[in-house]
Amino acid sequence: MNALPSTIVAASQDTLPQIVVDNVHKRFATAGNEVVALKDINLSIQPGEFVCLLGPSGCGKSTLLNAIAGFSPPTEGSIAVDGQPVRAPGPERGMVFQEYALFPWMTVAKNIAFGLEIKGLPKGEIDQRVTSLMEKLHLHEFRDRYPKDLSGGMRQRVAIARILALDSPIMLMDEPFGALDALTRRTLQDELLRIWAEYRKTIVFVTHSIEESIYLADRIVVLTYRPGTIKTDVRVTLPRPRDTSLAGFNDLKRDLAQLVMEEQRRFADDEIKQSTAD
Ligand SMILES: Nc1ncnc2c1ncn2[C@@H]1O[C@H](COP(=O)(O)OP(=O)(O)O)[C@@H](O)[C@H]1O
Ligand SMILES: [Mg+2]
Repeated sequence: MNALPSTIVAASQDTLPQIVVDNVHKRFATAGNEVVALKDINLSIQPGEFVCLLGPSGCGKSTLLNAIAGFSPPTEGSIAVDGQPVRAPGPERGMVFQEYALFPWMTVAKNIAFGLEIKGLPKGEIDQRVTSLMEKLHLHEFRDRYPKDLSGGMRQRVAIARILALDSPIMLMDEPFGALDALTRRTLQDELLRIWAEYRKTIVFVTHSIEESIYLADRIVVLTYRPGTIKTDVRVTLPRPRDTSLAGFNDLKRDLAQLVMEEQRRFADDEIKQSTAD
């Protein structure tokens, strides 16, 4: 790693990791072209850690998250969760996407209850859990509504409630608040932090927003653009709740922006090259 600005503290590993990404490579073959989406990714995530994967478009953030989720295995290398190799999606890893993956034909309550019904829990217990989660996430008034009648923020609350219902210790989130307006986004960030602190979840959260990553994370992993490698892995030591107006916050924001912008420029150059080749 190059010499880093003083606001950037290297992440340390001191307890047994919950998620281990070991020498992961991922290649995609497209129309005679090969894209190296991930290269030499090594990452250990501790239980209860809040990790953001940060970088511009195309640097492999979703590819890495999908590999951890078990949706799309690495071309080389391996991923383990709690010491078990990841081969498929599992209930201990709940996923929240940017585009709300709710069942449109089910009410809010049914969407939250779905996983519990699949698990075969008794109806009384399901009702109790769903009601309590709806209260926690301020969804109780929307219990019988369908997703199409909800705002984007409310839909993401339902998506989060669904994972909490299943009690997944790991939450994988792919730009979950990317489509929301700034105020709704801040509200949901605060709610997520509350949930994280209360339930001690491990969260891997993809974003291309530098501010969002500093507001949320214990640790920020910056990826490079093509091939996707780890550019920097930094610990955020600012006290919580974080104040975006403090000098420390803005110093880190400036230093991270420099690192991310180097990759953003590579992405933009590539886009220009591709458009002139067409
Ligand atoms: N299914 C796919 N087939 C071919 N190329 C893909 C596929 N998924 C992703 N890629 C390529 O891999 C790179 C990383 O993509 P992605 O993980 O979606 O990046 P990010 O989430 O950081 O925007 C990009 O160059 C993208 O075009
Ligand atoms: Mg993505």
